[in-house]
Amino acid sequence: MYNFFLGLHSGLRYIVLLLLAVAIVLSVTALFGKKDYTQTNRKINLFAMIATHTQLLAGLILYFFSPLVQYGNMGEAMKNTLARYWTVEHAVLMLFAVALITVGHSRSKKDVAAVNKHRAIALYYGLAILVIVIAIYQSGRPLLGMTSIGS
Ligand code: HEM
Repeated sequence: MYNFFLGLHSGLRYIVLLLLAVAIVLSVTALFGKKDYTQTNRKINLFAMIATHTQLLAGLILYFFSPLVQYGNMGEAMKNTLARYWTVEHAVLMLFAVALITVGHSRSKKDVAAVNKHRAIALYYGLAILVIVIAIYQSGRPLLGMTSIGS
């Protein structure tokens, strides 16, 4: 079970990062080029949010299986860098990134003007990808690459 969800969560990161990167590039180029908000924009932005929410779900399940997560013993977990990262820091940073993406997507839907829709995606998805990259970097694991189980 643990291996399955770790593999899923680990692999999903590529889809999340790729879709976010494409959504950001498209929105930034559309902003500068004063382009319309197309069906492609809408779909990519939506798929990026769905992928992130799927990743959130896999992460939440993994949280209860990972031997590195010690939510039952917070006091001890806070004293240990590795346990603190996986018990608190990773989850908090990633939840923040997911919230940014959700808000950005919702704003892009509510706004009427194309420029505002593109701006919402560029800003919120842009901040989110930054938070995600920093969080993965902080873990000491490769940004793009699997680690062996439990390392
Ligand atoms: C956009 C959201 C997220 C991304 C991009 C992400 C990314 C990652 C990555 C790259 C790893 C390392 C996988 C490996 O070493 O192969 C990981 C592990 C993990 N993540 Fe996330 N994560 C996200 C959200 C979450 C959330 C919201 C939670 C929990 C509430 C969570 C809990 C975990 C846990 C428990 C591990 C495994 C630690 C272990 O046992 O090795 N993740 N995540």
